[in-house]
Amino acid sequence: MDNLPARPTYAPIITDAPGLNWVGPGDAWTRAWGVTAQQPYTSPVLPAPVLPAPALSAAGTFGPAGGSGVPPMPSTPPPLVPQAAVAVLPLAGRAQAAAAQAGPTAADIALVRRSLGVLESVADRATAHFYAVLFLRHPELRALFPAAMDLQRDRLFRALLAAGQAADNPAALTEYLDRLARGHRKYGVLNEHYGPVGEALLTALERYCGRYWDPETELAWRRIYRAVSEVMMASAEADARVAPASWQAEVVAVDRRAGEVAVVTLRTDQRYPYLAGQYTTLEVPLWPRVWRHYSPATAPRADGLVTLHVKAVPAGWVSNALVHRTNPGDVLRLGPASGTMHVDLDGDAPLLLIGGGTGIAPLIAMVEAVAEHGRARTVEVFYGARREQELYAREELEALARRHPWLAVRTAVSEGRPEGAGFSGSLPAVVDRYGPWDEYEAFVSGPPAMIRRTVAVLREEGVQGARIHHDLADPA
Ligand SMILES: Cc1cc2nc3c(=O)[nH]c(=O)nc-3n(C[C@H](O)[C@H](O)[C@H](O)COP(=O)(O)OP(=O)(O)OC[C@H]3O[C@@H](n4cnc5c(N)ncnc54)[C@H](O)[C@@H]3O)c2cc1C
Ligand code: HEM
Repeated sequence: MDNLPARPTYAPIITDAPGLNWVGPGDAWTRAWGVTAQQPYTSPVLPAPVLPAPALSAAGTFGPAGGSGVPPMPSTPPPLVPQAAVAVLPLAGRAQAAAAQAGPTAADIALVRRSLGVLESVADRATAHFYAVLFLRHPELRALFPAAMDLQRDRLFRALLAAGQAADNPAALTEYLDRLARGHRKYGVLNEHYGPVGEALLTALERYCGRYWDPETELAWRRIYRAVSEVMMASAEADARVAPASWQAEVVAVDRRAGEVAVVTLRTDQRYPYLAGQYTTLEVPLWPRVWRHYSPATAPRADGLVTLHVKAVPAGWVSNALVHRTNPGDVLRLGPASGTMHVDLDGDAPLLLIGGGTGIAPLIAMVEAVAEHGRARTVEVFYGARREQELYAREELEALARRHPWLAVRTAVSEGRPEGAGFSGSLPAVVDRYGPWDEYEAFVSGPPAMIRRTVAVLREEGVQGARIHHDLADPA
């Protein structure tokens, strides 16, 4: 961390899109909610919990450290000590306060997992309660979230569950939280928000864990939340020194293709760092705070342009805005790139790239990266859609195959007659027919059901799990 530059090394190029420059407390949305620093909101008294919960008066305060020995919700970032997030310390005698500060114990992790198990069946209600409490007590935080919150509601709980599951694997947990924290910068999350979120979380947990909520469980949650928050705050701080929270991206072209697909080309306000095969998160001005994933269809380019393939899904908010209501000159926002689908360009294992629909986008980017920077290796692309006319990227792929003798492109359609040398059948079935693939490094991208079936086929064909890459279960 000491080696990092003290000041950000970036500077925005697009500065005339004020609506997109800042989200969070103090922005237009927050002002619209009528909450200012001069007129702070006073929390109403909440109704008593319905479910029985043990008395927690001594442990239930959110004051400064010390006193009760209960760790307070964090308010300032500590130095980044990743291993501390899961340090296993004994919880005994006068060492309790110090242990609370240092990190959760193995017993804490077990208690948190137990209560998460209880919560699973009432996760919806617990999540709704959490947000209700958060926004009643801190209405200024409502402005950080999208207007409609139906889709993302349980993500925070699921993330804590993931943290609970990974708690005894410090390296994996820290890597996950680091990525999560980088992603949270685009929401406008600040260090001082962690305390209120933690308070609301504990209120919801107390209410919904019922008889499994006791002082030990509360202490365990406080320590785990504190440890998780500390890693996230430190990661966000470190990231803030080297990268912006988000990138503004001007639309330079929208090429509408068959099958409700648009190829959208963007110019970012500063260099957008990503690896071919990874995905970005994107927000359109029409739907502030609503973020969706899209995978660049180009390897990082010298001219800085980023091209996306977007399919408008029925009633989809962001995809329809991009395909039908986006024009050159519009300014979007991108979050940091993420994802595990990227090729080792120093390797020479043959590659099997399987893309359904717009899932072909990151695979084209990977082919480009191999062509520009990789070593000689066989690359087999299988590209599928339901109907022939939905294979909107066919010409581009065939042009790539003409240029690169190591590249073979095969298409498949599950309905109607295929053209030329194309195959008939679903992608997983066609891939199954043309194995063996056990020597290949496989990358699968497309609709979730297609990914699941293709992964199952590859496993049956003897491809090792570690050689099959996809981003279906990615938590960001
Ligand atoms: C890692 C990753 C990478 C992705 N890359 C791309 C990409 O490169 N190009 C691309 O177009 N999309 C991509 N997606 C999907 C994209 O993130 C959005 O989910 C999609 O565009 C729908 O968003 P929306 O806001 O329009 O729909 P939402 O408002 O989220 O959904 C509206 C309704 O449509 C349904 N729905 C959502 N997706 C589909 C679908 N595919 N088919 C039918 N109904 C659906 C929902 O269940 C919901 O009922 C990717 C997703 C992930 C996880
Ligand atoms: C322990 C701390 C936290 C964890 C584990 C956590 C986890 C998550 C996860 C997994 C998501 C889903 C999307 C993504 O991956 O970015 C998310 C979204 C979000 N979080 Fe957090 N979060 C934490 C703290 C906070 C805090 C303190 C805030 C500030 C209010 C916050 C605000 C948000 C917002 C605004 C979103 C976007 C919601 C959306 O897209 O609809 N989070 N969080």
